Amino acid sequence: MLRCPLQLVRLRLPVRQLSDLTTKFTGLGSFSNLNYDQLQSSLRTDSSQCEQFWKLIGEQQLNWMQPFHTVSDCDLKSAKIAWYLGGKLNASANCIDRHLATRADQTALIWEQDEPGNQVYITYKQLHAEVCRIASLLLQSGLQAGDTAVLYMPTGPPVVYCMLACARIGVAHSVVFAGFSAEALAARIQDVGAKVVITTDQAIRGGKTVELKRTVDAAVKSCPMVERVFVSTRTGASVPMGSIDVPLEKNAAACSADCAAEPMDSEQPLFVLYTSGSTGKPKGLVHSTAGYLVYTSLTHQHVFDYRPGQDIFGCVADVGWITGHSYVVYGPLANGGTTLLFESTPAYPDVGRYWETAERLGLTHIYLSPTYDLSRLRVLGCVGEPLNHEAWEWYHRWVGGGHRDIADTWWQTETGGVCIAPRPSAEGAPILPAMPMRPFYGLEPVLMDPATGAEVTESPAEGHLCMRRPWPGMARSIWGDHKRFAETYYSQFPGLYFTGDGASRDAQGFLHITGRVDDVINVTGHRLGTAEIEDALDSHPAVSETAVIGYPHKLKGEAVYAFVILKDGVSIDRLGDLRRELKRRVRDRIAAYAVPEKLLFTDGLPKTRSGKIMRRILKRIAAEDYDSIGDISTLADPSVVEALKQHHDLYQ
Ligand code: PRX
Repeated sequence: MLRCPLQLVRLRLPVRQLSDLTTKFTGLGSFSNLNYDQLQSSLRTDSSQCEQFWKLIGEQQLNWMQPFHTVSDCDLKSAKIAWYLGGKLNASANCIDRHLATRADQTALIWEQDEPGNQVYITYKQLHAEVCRIASLLLQSGLQAGDTAVLYMPTGPPVVYCMLACARIGVAHSVVFAGFSAEALAARIQDVGAKVVITTDQAIRGGKTVELKRTVDAAVKSCPMVERVFVSTRTGASVPMGSIDVPLEKNAAACSADCAAEPMDSEQPLFVLYTSGSTGKPKGLVHSTAGYLVYTSLTHQHVFDYRPGQDIFGCVADVGWITGHSYVVYGPLANGGTTLLFESTPAYPDVGRYWETAERLGLTHIYLSPTYDLSRLRVLGCVGEPLNHEAWEWYHRWVGGGHRDIADTWWQTETGGVCIAPRPSAEGAPILPAMPMRPFYGLEPVLMDPATGAEVTESPAEGHLCMRRPWPGMARSIWGDHKRFAETYYSQFPGLYFTGDGASRDAQGFLHITGRVDDVINVTGHRLGTAEIEDALDSHPAVSETAVIGYPHKLKGEAVYAFVILKDGVSIDRLGDLRRELKRRVRDRIAAYAVPEKLLFTDGLPKTRSGKIMRRILKRIAAEDYDSIGDISTLADPSVVEALKQHHDLYQ
């Protein structure tokens, strides 16, 4: 296990020191000469300045087929968000065509295959041809602007071609992470109403093959709206092909390598991406074409200080998540950059994979989920202080050689792009360990007191993290359920966007994220709602009631702990089988990563007299933090707590 740091000592990543560089805007009128603090204060105090700022940014960041006439039309009280109205543009043209004059032969994509040493380079010219061919094929199949397509594919060039091909013809894509089960995939296909699904014969990850086409076959059985399944070739294995299945590459090769990019309205949905919330049903967050692209390209440039033509951006996220959308595909390509498509896992063939890849490919940036850092950190035995702080020190020392900048970035599927990050900083200002610190240009985070609903204005302080001002990259709605969108994000603190996270602010005003304040947990960087897992477990005929919580886990960041009450009459002899069946049920309904690490059968749960489960108590029991369980006298049956502690101890 000590291999990892030993390899790192030898590493010489060509990562620049960000603090040497300026992040000032050029050519942005009166904003050009302002430093970060001056710009933020001018945007915060004067709405017309804010409007002017986003106008100039919108004009500067993108190529427009028709200029916008209105910068924004937002009212957070009623969850109305719209940017760059009247404008027409195409996201695919902004990510490809506009770079062709100067970057046709520059590498756009580096595909780092599962087996190290098999990297494939794709230029902007090649990207253009591939995207056009697939876009032509999709048009031929009857897809048209306004339709949706589901993509169930591994990270690699084909999924990027398909995303951009959809964008080219005005079809909203919904990429479903290729680790989801057939049932979870079917639920998303049905919810988004996809006529077309695009998948891959098999994926390869960590040396193992994953049967994607077979999973799609199982999913589409319950999706009568699906007319066509395109199948991309990764392994070339023979997979069953039915009447609606069409080989992707073979058919695309016969199509035109020139397909016009359709002018789309600014607010046309670019994609729908499902994420977990605190209820059982995943939410399909809708992102716009113009605002999203303005914001991801701007944040990619400024948060990471990205220089197209010189830098190789290595975001190792899977394209199935928002990080992959924003910082593998749209941000880097809109900026004319070179971006990494990482097919493998952080531990294949060994835990030095990221660093070996970075060295071999000459990456200038690495962007990854901190869960993996935490896991290494714990494995290395560097525990003892608050986790985040340790992770930062570890990363700074081993990866950054003690002198490279580390950007802890805070954001969400809902926010479209990074909202809080050390960059943009006042030039040369220090970056403090383990906190994202500063809001991005034009954003105004506020801390709210959940008890009073009032803003917490003093510092240092803690509270629920909200955003006061809208920004172009924020999600516009939940697909098919705007009411739920308004209720989830805009009702708790009227007039503000509520993130679902808690945060603290230090005396200097810098922000630190304390974690979710709702029933959302984060397992190996994957966001999960505890209610989704409860729904899956509750569907088993032997189960009466369940309560699922997240607890700190040394390898996964958080892991799933399920407390299960069985129905009367279930034989104790069946417990072993039931444990397996219940885990299987979660795997089948959601995904392998959602399977409870611990599953405890119990006779009771700690409930208030009104029947509400006290999850706080379950979390303390799971963390064996018995001393801070606190007052249990308000429980309907306080003896439950002692029984749970004993069961938990026996189960270990
Ligand atoms: O709890 C926060 C955590 O990840 C959640 C968002 O998850 P998702 O939508 O899957 O997007 C992840 C990638 C952007 C947030 O509500 N989170 C995100 N960034 C940080 C974080 N927690 C602590 N520090 C961060 N930098």
